[in-house]
Amino acid sequence: MESPLLLHMFTPGRHTSPFDVNMAYDAGWDAAIPYSGVEQDEVADMVQDTIFSRGPDGARRTGIFLGGKDVYASMDMMETARESMVPPFEVSVMADPSGGFTTAAGLVALVEHHLRAAQGGDLAGQTVVVFGGTGPVGVVSGVLAARAGAEVVLISHQGKGRADQEAERCNERFGVQVSGGDGSSEDAKRNLVNEADIILCTAPAGVQVLTADLVRPAPRLKVVADVNAVPPAGVEGVGVQDDGVGFPDSESGAVAIGALAVGGVKYQAQHDLLRRMHAQAAAEDLAFQAAFEAARGFVG
Ligand SMILES: NC(=O)c1ccc[n+]([C@@H]2O[C@H](COP(=O)([O-])OP(=O)(O)OC[C@H]3O[C@@H](n4cnc5c(N)ncnc54)[C@H](OP(=O)(O)O)[C@@H]3O)[C@@H](O)[C@H]2O)c1
Repeated sequence: MESPLLLHMFTPGRHTSPFDVNMAYDAGWDAAIPYSGVEQDEVADMVQDTIFSRGPDGARRTGIFLGGKDVYASMDMMETARESMVPPFEVSVMADPSGGFTTAAGLVALVEHHLRAAQGGDLAGQTVVVFGGTGPVGVVSGVLAARAGAEVVLISHQGKGRADQEAERCNERFGVQVSGGDGSSEDAKRNLVNEADIILCTAPAGVQVLTADLVRPAPRLKVVADVNAVPPAGVEGVGVQDDGVGFPDSESGAVAIGALAVGGVKYQAQHDLLRRMHAQAAAEDLAFQAAFEAARGFVG
C-alpha cells in the first residue's frame, strides 16, 4: 500500500487558514497538518524533519505549504526550505500568504484577458494603479503587472511616504520598478484615477475606496477590478459577479471585474498548484509566478 500524501502547513501566525486546509484536502492530500507560530530560524530544522523520515519515495508523497500574511517572510521561508533539502530527499514547497499569491495571479490574469478582449493589447506600457497596494494581494499584483511590462503605482491610504516605502521594498526584493502613490484624500485619488489605464482595488474587505463618481469620468480607463467580496464594494459600481461587463456610464468604455470572478480563477490556480505538488515526480517551488502561469490557463 502506498504511504499517505502528507502536506505540512507552516504559518508564522497563530492559525493556519481553514480556507487553505479545505483546499489541500480537495486537491487530494490525505492529511493537511497545521503548524502555527513557525519562525524563520526554525524552518531549516522543520524541513529536515519533514524530508528524512520517509525515504526519497516517501518525500515525493510529502509537501510543505507556507501560509501567514507576509509576502516577504513567505519568500524567505521558501528560500530557506529549498536550501535545507538534501537531494534526493526533496519535497515540493508552495507559498500563498493570505491567499495573496493565487488571488493576485487570478486578478492579473483576468485583467490581461479582458484587456486583450477589449483592446487587443496586453499590459505592456499600461499604467496600473493599485489601491490597497501595500497589502499582500496588492504588492504581488503590482509585481506581476510590472513583470508584464506595466507602469505600476502602489497606493497607500496613509499617504505617499508609506507607499514609497513599500514600493522600494518591493523593487529591491523582486527586481521590478514600481512607484508609490498618495491615496489619502479624494483629490489625490482623483489624480491617480485620471492617469490610470487599469485600476486594481485590493483594499480590505468591506472598505469602499473609490466612488463611482470618481471612476466614471476617468479618461483613459480600460479595466477596473475589485477583489473585495464584502459589501460595500471597494469600487462603487463594480459588481462581485462582473467578468468583463461595462462599468456603468464609464466615459472611456471601461470594463469591470469583480471579486467572485477573480475568486473563481484563484480557486482553480490554487487547486492546480496543490495537486501538482503531489502529482509530479520532481520537487518544485511554487510561488506567485507559478500561480500566475496556472491562472492564465484558466481564463477565457
Ligand atoms: N476575491 C478573492 O478571491 C479574494 C481572495 C483573497 C483575498 N481577497 C480580498 O483581497 C483584499 C486584499 O487582501 P489583503 O490581505 O492584501 O488585504 P490587507 O492587507 O488587509 O489590506 C490591503 C491594504 O489596504 C490598505 N488599507 C487599510 N485600510 C484601508 C482603508 N480604510 N482605505 C483604503 N485602504 C486601506 C492597507 O494599506 P495602507 O494602510 O498602506 O493604505 C493594506 O496594506 C481583501 O479585500 C480580501 O478580502 C479576495
